[in-house]
Amino acid sequence: MVDRLFLEKELFGRLGWFIRMRWGFIAGLLFATLLCRLFGVDLPYGRILAVGGLIFIYNLGFFLRHRAIERKGIHYTWRAQRAANLQICADYLSLTAVVHYGGGVDNPFILLYLLHVMIGSLMLRRPQVWAQGLFAFLLFLAVVVLEYHGLLPHYAVGEVSPRYQSAWYILAVSAALLVTLCSIIYMSSAIIQDLRDREARITHSSALLEKKSSDLEAANRELREKQQQLVQSEKLVSLGRLSAGMAHEINNPIQFIQGNMRILGEAMDSMLPVVDRHAEAHPGFKVARLSYPVFRQHIATLLKDMSSGTVRIADIVRDLKKFARSEEPSVADLVDLNESIGASLRLVHNKIKRHKVICELDPDLPKIRGSANRIGQVIVANLINAAEALGDRQDGVIELRTSTGPDGRVSLCIADNGPGMTEEVQQRLFDPFFTTKQNSGGMGLGLSVAYGIIKDHQGSIEVDSKLGEGTTLTLSFPVARSEGA
Ligand SMILES: Nc1ncnc2c1ncn2[C@@H]1O[C@H](COP(=O)(O)OP(=O)(O)O)[C@@H](O)[C@H]1O
Ligand SMILES: [Mg+2]
Repeated sequence: MVDRLFLEKELFGRLGWFIRMRWGFIAGLLFATLLCRLFGVDLPYGRILAVGGLIFIYNLGFFLRHRAIERKGIHYTWRAQRAANLQICADYLSLTAVVHYGGGVDNPFILLYLLHVMIGSLMLRRPQVWAQGLFAFLLFLAVVVLEYHGLLPHYAVGEVSPRYQSAWYILAVSAALLVTLCSIIYMSSAIIQDLRDREARITHSSALLEKKSSDLEAANRELREKQQQLVQSEKLVSLGRLSAGMAHEINNPIQFIQGNMRILGEAMDSMLPVVDRHAEAHPGFKVARLSYPVFRQHIATLLKDMSSGTVRIADIVRDLKKFARSEEPSVADLVDLNESIGASLRLVHNKIKRHKVICELDPDLPKIRGSANRIGQVIVANLINAAEALGDRQDGVIELRTSTGPDGRVSLCIADNGPGMTEEVQQRLFDPFFTTKQNSGGMGLGLSVAYGIIKDHQGSIEVDSKLGEGTTLTLSFPVARSEGA
C-alpha cells in the first residue's frame, strides 16, 4: 500500500496544476468569445461571459484554499479527492453552460469533457471516474435533447445547420461522445492504476531496503563497538603485565631510596651545626660551588623536594600495581551498589565536600555479584574525576543515581555539571595513561582500571558528555543470579 499521506500530497500537487489550467481555460474562453464577436457571430455573449466570470470566481476560491493549505502543510484531514470531485463537477456544469450558449452539439468546447475525464483519471479512483463520466454525458445529453425539443433555446454559431434538426445527427454526436468518454476512462484509468501499483511496489521495496540498510548499520555499529572493546581489553591485558613487572622493578630501589633519604635527612640535621661553625671560621666557604649561606638556605628544600619526589614515585607504583591487579578474577560476593556508593562518598569526602552531592538511590536495588572493594574503587575514581572536573566552581553538582533498567540490569549514573569532554577525550577516555591533567599530576589510570574492573563484573560503561554542560557516566551490571530470580 502506498502511504495515504503520500497519495494525498501527490493529488494535492495535481490539483495545483488543475487550478492553473483553469486560468488558461478562462483566457481561452475569452479569446474564443472575442473571435466570434469579431466575426459577427450572434451568440448570448453576456451569458457566456457570466459563465466565464463564475468560473473565475470559483477558481479564485479553489486557488486561495489551495494556497492556505500549502502554507499550513498537508494533513490527513485534508481530503484532496473530495476537492478534486468538487472541482470537476463544477467544471462540468460550467462547461455544459458554455456548450449550451455556444452552439450546443456544434460547440468545439465539447472536447473539454474528454480532457476532464482524463484529469479525473489522474486524480480519482476508478468508480469515481466512471460516475463523473456518466454525469458529464448526462449533462450534455440533457442540453442537446432539450435544445432539440425546443425546451431550451439553441444558439447556433452562424446558420442553424439543417443537421441540427436531425435527431440522428444529435444521436450520432452523443454516441460518439459517449464512446470516446468510455474509451478514455477505460484506457487512462487502466494506465494510472498500473502506475499506482508499480509505485506501491517500489515504495514497498524501498521501505524493505531502508530497513535492511538500517539493520546493517546497527550490526556494523555493534561490530565496531565490540572491536573497540576487544582492543581496549587487549591493551589492558598487555599493559597490566608490563606494569606489574615495572612496578615490581621500581618498588625495590624506591624503597631503599626512601630509607636512605630519611638517613640523609637525619645526617644533615646532625652535621649542619658543625658545618655552621666551620663556615663562621672560614668566610668564603663553598659547598657544591654555592656560597655556604645559599647552600644552607636551600638544602632543606632540596631534601624535601627529593622526599616528595620519591613519595610521588611510590604513589605511581602503587597505582600501577592496582592497575595490574585489575586482571585478577573478582571476588564473588553479593555487592549492594548503594552501600558501595555510601562508602566511596565517605572515602573521598574531603575532595568533594565543596560541591553539592545529590543521591537518588533506588532502595529496592537488587545486589550484584563481585568485589565490593573493586566496585568501590570504580566509584571513587569517577567521583574524583567529577570533583576534579568541577575544580573551584561554586555551583558544582555531582549526582549519583541507581536504578534497575528494563533489561533487568542494575545501573549507576554518576553525573557532574563540569566542563564536559571533547570527542577526542571521549575516544581515549579508557586508554591507560591517557590524561588531560599532566600538569596537576594525573596518571590517566583511573578510568582504564575502572574499565577492567567493570568488564570483570560483566558490566558496561557508557559516556555521555557535552562540552560546557557536563558528563554522565552510566555503569550497568547484571543482577546477581540468586537475587534476580
Ligand atoms: N567527569 C569528567 N569530566 C571531564 N573530564 C573527565 C571526567 N572524567 C574523566 N575525564 C577525562 O578523562 C581523563 C582520564 O581520566 P582518568 O583515567 O581518571 O585519569 P586522570 O584522572 O588521572 O587524568 C581525564 O584526564 C579527563 O580529561
Ligand atoms: Mg582520574
